[in-house]
Amino acid sequence: MDRFLIRGGVPLKGKIQVGGSKNAALPELAAILLTDKKVTLDRVPDVWDISTMLKLLRHLGVESERKGGKITFFAAKLTSDEAPYEIVKTMRASSLVLGPLLARTGRARVSIPGGCAIGARPIDLHLKAFEKLGAIISQEHGYIEARAPQGLKGATVHFDRITVTGTEDLMMAAVLASGETVIENAAREPEVQDLALLLNNMGARVQGAGTSVIRIRGVGKLHGAKHEIIADRIQAGTFLVAGAITGGDLLVENCRADHLSAVVFKLQDAGVEVTSPKPTSLRVRASQGPLQAVDMSTEEYPGFPTDMQAQYMALMTQASGISVIAENIFENRFMHVQELARMGAQIQVQGRRAIVRGDAPLSGAAVMASDLRASASLVLAGLVAKGETIVERVYHIDRGYESIETKLADVGARIERQSE
Ligand code: EPU
Repeated sequence: MDRFLIRGGVPLKGKIQVGGSKNAALPELAAILLTDKKVTLDRVPDVWDISTMLKLLRHLGVESERKGGKITFFAAKLTSDEAPYEIVKTMRASSLVLGPLLARTGRARVSIPGGCAIGARPIDLHLKAFEKLGAIISQEHGYIEARAPQGLKGATVHFDRITVTGTEDLMMAAVLASGETVIENAAREPEVQDLALLLNNMGARVQGAGTSVIRIRGVGKLHGAKHEIIADRIQAGTFLVAGAITGGDLLVENCRADHLSAVVFKLQDAGVEVTSPKPTSLRVRASQGPLQAVDMSTEEYPGFPTDMQAQYMALMTQASGISVIAENIFENRFMHVQELARMGAQIQVQGRRAIVRGDAPLSGAAVMASDLRASASLVLAGLVAKGETIVERVYHIDRGYESIETKLADVGARIERQSE
């Protein structure tokens, strides 16, 4: 298992590039199952979760050809309609193949995703939505089986709570259903909008993605398409915090500033200087005065993303005053607190709130990554801590950040990967 060795205390300076979005790529890779024509996706990030999805697609009979970040897929003939336990257990987002398989073949069998480090994360809302479209759902031997022998029929689905992959899964099921599907209380995340763009490029008729009501008029068939995946807003946000926490001067390039408004406003509130020289770049500079503690609550887009909560908490350990951070999306997303505490952070968890006492001098320690974003926060803390920090189990960070250590080292961080 690899680990990172970090020697903190260097302000990061220079330019850092953002890659394609993992959470946009995952549903878009599933969407290629909807057509027997060639689909090319550009800017596919080279991270573990994507490798897992590619493995699943191969298992289902999809052929592909890769040239750097560009992959052309050909799902002419599917050889299986099952997402097996061995693959789903390593990545919950595998359940995104349910919608497309059901739409294309009328049958899908997907291993039930188990719990996860950040919460129970059921997929009951996805299943209820498929039922609304006429699918018959059963569960046996740890698998969900969905069938629609007569095809899916459009319907109105109101999600009880906002779900990102639930919205995406349903959109993909509905594009080939007969008639109109209306999704109410839909997720508005940029990744949902990007998926709609790809689907429409393939001939689907999706309207309203990016708002809370999405209308989909089913079509008989989809065709091939070429599509570039949007920039990863969480990676960009993580780099902004890296610049801020080290008191550096970083230009974060190839991102979408408009997807990061909530994060940028919060950082500005805390006294960090963030500007957008171009719509595709953000510059972060240390504040003139001390960082200020500012409360934050995670919300669905366009609110502050839960995927940036852990990184923001690392920053708040360095701010003047006390901040209250509320996690409203997942019930157990404070696994990084204990590890940050080992480095000297003073954080108290009360249910879904963490109270962070700022101005904590962090000192390097051996810490353990528990999930993707928690590991990012430990790396950020390591960048500002005195002495050596060792982050164990970096496979968590490899799930969603492409060569993060190389990118950070290129802007001055003293970080190296050690393989055991
Ligand atoms: N929920 C249910 N039932 C469902 C679906 C969701 O109760 O059927 C609950 C979840 O347990 C959670 C809340 O609803 O408490 C919101 O979950 P959502 O479905 O929106 O999350 P997701 O689609 O599973 C995606 C991202 C996550 C990100 C969340 C929230 C992908 C592949 N994953 O997950 O990304 O945190 O939305 O924005 O898009 C990450 O990248 O580190 C990550 C965890």
